[in-house]
Amino acid sequence: MKKKQITLRPFETSDIKELHRWSNDPVSILMVGRIPQTFEQIAGQVEKKRRNADMLCAVVNEDHQLIGWVFLKDIEYEHGRAGIGILLAPEARGQGYGRIAMEAMIELGFNQLRLHKIYLTTRSMNEHAIALYKKIGFIVEGVLRKHAYVNGEYYDTYFMGLLESEWRQMQ
Ligand SMILES: CC(C)(COP(=O)(O)OP(=O)(O)OC[C@H]1O[C@@H](n2cnc3c(N)ncnc32)[C@H](O)[C@@H]1OP(=O)(O)O)[C@@H](O)C(=O)NCCC(=O)NCCS
Repeated sequence: MKKKQITLRPFETSDIKELHRWSNDPVSILMVGRIPQTFEQIAGQVEKKRRNADMLCAVVNEDHQLIGWVFLKDIEYEHGRAGIGILLAPEARGQGYGRIAMEAMIELGFNQLRLHKIYLTTRSMNEHAIALYKKIGFIVEGVLRKHAYVNGEYYDTYFMGLLESEWRQMQ
């Protein structure tokens, strides 16, 4: 079996069509918490992120296929911190790509942008994502109680963080 490999490249306008498909997958709607959205709505979100100077990267696999995106958002250089987010194509999940894509983006944040902390939020029922984040080294720093409303129920949201020093220790 071929070794799983990814490269990060800039997320281009022509990639939005695929992002629209991934975003409307039922698991994405449940876990990332969006209602079904039109192409224009998704394009608007990308535009908003660009205006916010978020760093948007497309994830490309060893066969040169676009399989997801990963991004650093709300980058605050004064504090050396940024949020991170990821969404993979449904058919690319559960094969290890999420971990290597997150790790590549974290490395970029710590080694190129000189960040000292990367953080994220995730819903308590997203066991897959939480397992992945813990494996990478993120720690639950706080619980936002009953913060997300999904399918008629309120769920806690976890705030998770990773310090540069912790990351370096694990390398
Ligand atoms: C969450 C997501 C980015 C994870 O990426 P992925 O490539 O599917 O995850 P990986 O295959 O790298 O798995 C990482 C770890 O998650 C855990 N995991 C994998 N599949 C799992 C499952 N079905 N249930 C629970 N944990 C699971 C394992 O611990 C795995 O590590 P291991 O393979 O070393 O045992 C991806 O599934 C996705 O885009 N999901 C939909 C959107 C989403 O939830 N985004 C995050 C919002 S906070």
